Amino acid sequence: MYIPSLLPLAGALLNRTLQSGLKDNVLEKVRANMWDSSSKSWEMGVMAEALTEYEWASLSVFSDTAFPPPAALNSSVNASDVLEVVHTVLAAKSADTITLFADESAGDPASMGCAVLLANWTRGDKSDTSYSTAASDQLSYLLNDAPRTDEGAISHRADQVQLWSDSVYMVPPFLAYYGALQGGDDGAQLLQMAYDQIRLHRDALADDGLWRHVTLGDWEDDTHWATGNGWAAAGMMRVLQTLNRTEQATDFSDQQAHLVTWIRETLSAVWEHQSSNGTLYNVIDDNTSFADTASTALLASVTYRMAAFDGNTGLNSKANRALSLIEASIDDDGWLLGTVDPYTFTSRTTGETHSPEAQAFVLLLHSAWRDYAAQLKTTS
Ligand SMILES: *[C@@H]1O[C@H](CO)[C@@H](O)[C@H](O)[C@H]1NC(C)=O
Ligand SMILES: *[C@@H]1O[C@H](CO)[C@@H](O)[C@H](O)[C@H]1NC(C)=O
Ligand SMILES: *[C@@H]1O[C@H](CO)[C@@H](O)[C@H](O)[C@H]1NC(C)=O
Ligand SMILES: *[C@@H]1O[C@H](CO)[C@@H](O)[C@H](O)[C@H]1NC(C)=O
Ligand SMILES: *[C@@H]1O[C@H](CO)[C@@H](O)[C@H](O)[C@H]1NC(C)=O
Ligand SMILES: *[C@@H]1O[C@H](CO)[C@@H](O)[C@H](O)[C@H]1NC(C)=O
Repeated sequence: MYIPSLLPLAGALLNRTLQSGLKDNVLEKVRANMWDSSSKSWEMGVMAEALTEYEWASLSVFSDTAFPPPAALNSSVNASDVLEVVHTVLAAKSADTITLFADESAGDPASMGCAVLLANWTRGDKSDTSYSTAASDQLSYLLNDAPRTDEGAISHRADQVQLWSDSVYMVPPFLAYYGALQGGDDGAQLLQMAYDQIRLHRDALADDGLWRHVTLGDWEDDTHWATGNGWAAAGMMRVLQTLNRTEQATDFSDQQAHLVTWIRETLSAVWEHQSSNGTLYNVIDDNTSFADTASTALLASVTYRMAAFDGNTGLNSKANRALSLIEASIDDDGWLLGTVDPYTFTSRTTGETHSPEAQAFVLLLHSAWRDYAAQLKTTS
């Protein structure tokens, strides 16, 4: 049996200290607020992923049962709310757009792609090709229509070439999941493409571990925006975990090794700037910006995922402190306070306004912590 109160003791003995996680009643309010407030393409995408990791963990790439997904869902593993998000998105999609959302962003709509692929794979009516068509159209847009740099990096913007750290969460995890489900040579090409997109984005955006936010195009943001670092690290983590669980994993061992290095270099650079109360700053290496809980939650989630992946626990104390700060920053109504305003990047939410994506980051953090704690329990 899983007894959370014994974990700190087991952890201390093994020098792998772990604290208790967020409470279920808090998480349910966090989830409800995420559900009610999310509407933009990438918010729907990260919500679908957060629901999968939080509630249907056996279907997520962080589970060893990820591939292949079940051909049919049942009453205990039914992914009901993930499918509801997919249905909402597909119902709103007009027949003349091939992306999952009509959007100014070339990258953000793909964030819903994994959920659509899961809906296809597990659908009850095997003659229904609507999910498969929606996913393959979205892929076709990325492969054939989205603007690219000369090196081949897929733009985050539809009207011009502009690279964002955020895109690493929106596009490569979809390419990788698509490739993992297809298998064979076509699948291998997509797995490689997921890796290459990360490599090209890193070449353009990363400075010694910290990622700049936006480069190229008609404006740039050269700051090391904390949430952008979170998107990049979390996107790399999903691709790493996807590669690692595919049938073709052994053909991608160099790529996996590079991703491990890149995730670790980012996490190490990020946590060097953690404040004593556990927070990160909105611009990671500028403590005259402001404390930001959103990025703190997302980057802590990746830190637990990496510890679970390779057993290196050197940054766990940072993640533990971040988790405590997040717990203390959720109000009685279930909103995470003290987040960056995700629409300006440069100001804070006020208490009247909230961040939908940050609500999802809390669920990602909890899920990562929970899975790590469960693994620690079985290996100690
Ligand atoms: C429901 O599906 C899950 C995932 O495929 C499986 O592990 C579980 O055994 C199934 N439960 C029942 C009651 O069939
Ligand atoms: C879906 O699963 C949840 C949790 O296991 C359960 O409470 C709910 O009744 C299920 N819904 C259906 C339609 O089976
Ligand atoms: C949809 O699912 C079927 C299996 O039911 C699979 O053959 C097909 O490749 C899937 N489509 C996509 C785009 O993954
Ligand atoms: C998956 O990752 C683990 C941890 O790095 C590694 O030991 C293992 O060999 C990888 N598996 C495959 C099949 O690549
Ligand atoms: C901010 O960073 C500077 C330079 O690293 C350091 O001297 C100062 O103590 C920091 N201030 C706070 C509030 O952390
Ligand atoms: C954490 O510390 C920073 C200053 O380093 C401060 O701005 C922020 O409000 C603190 N957060 C909490 C939740 O106390």
